[in-house]
Amino acid sequence: MQTEKILVAICGASGMIFARSFLRLMWTARQPADGICSEAGRQVLAHELAMAPEDLPGAGHWFSPDDLAAPPASGSSRYLGMVILPCTMGTLAAIASGQSRNLIHRAADVMLKERRPLLLTTRETPLNRIHLENMLRAHDAGATICPPLPGFYLHPKTLEEAADTFSWRLADMLGIGIAGRARWGE
Ligand SMILES: Cc1cc2nc3c(=O)[nH]c(=O)nc-3n(C[C@H](O)[C@H](O)[C@H](O)COP(=O)(O)O)c2cc1C
Repeated sequence: MQTEKILVAICGASGMIFARSFLRLMWTARQPADGICSEAGRQVLAHELAMAPEDLPGAGHWFSPDDLAAPPASGSSRYLGMVILPCTMGTLAAIASGQSRNLIHRAADVMLKERRPLLLTTRETPLNRIHLENMLRAHDAGATICPPLPGFYLHPKTLEEAADTFSWRLADMLGIGIAGRARWGE
């Protein structure tokens, strides 16, 4: 069992099923996690899943996005990495331009300056030039751009199973071992 926590931020993009899947996976893998949910994230989570962040499994503590004095705001915090799931174009823009206006932006900025994993599951379609340029800027600063796309080659039978295939990829990128995880060719 891992001892260092991961940080999961939920923004106000469509795709809350992916956030629920990933947090459930962290719960079953006994990987400690803390969360931050933006105000827009709360609204979309309520709309898509009729849930509040506190109803989701897997996060030990939910920080307010306005609390810029919370532990994730400091490089001295011991998070092994951060996932923004789903990540809006607005939060992507804030990160790409270094504007630490809320705790999600600031924590992401900390991950980049400390050279720790930062996974941005950017969700929008279609993408305009500003979105694409911001993704490249964030990539060049050290973030991993990983849009929420399931692996259909694993033949998921439900939307939940499809979301789980993406959660497994995120766990791989963070170095979190998942027992029994399906893989191509195995
Ligand atoms: C139902 C709903 C779905 C949305 N989906 C997206 C989306 O997929 N991608 C996106 O960038 N913004 C989306 N938005 C707009 C964002 O919520 C909005 O830009 C918000 O200010 C983002 O704030 P945040 O980045 O702090 O969460 C959506 C809004 C609503 C109400």
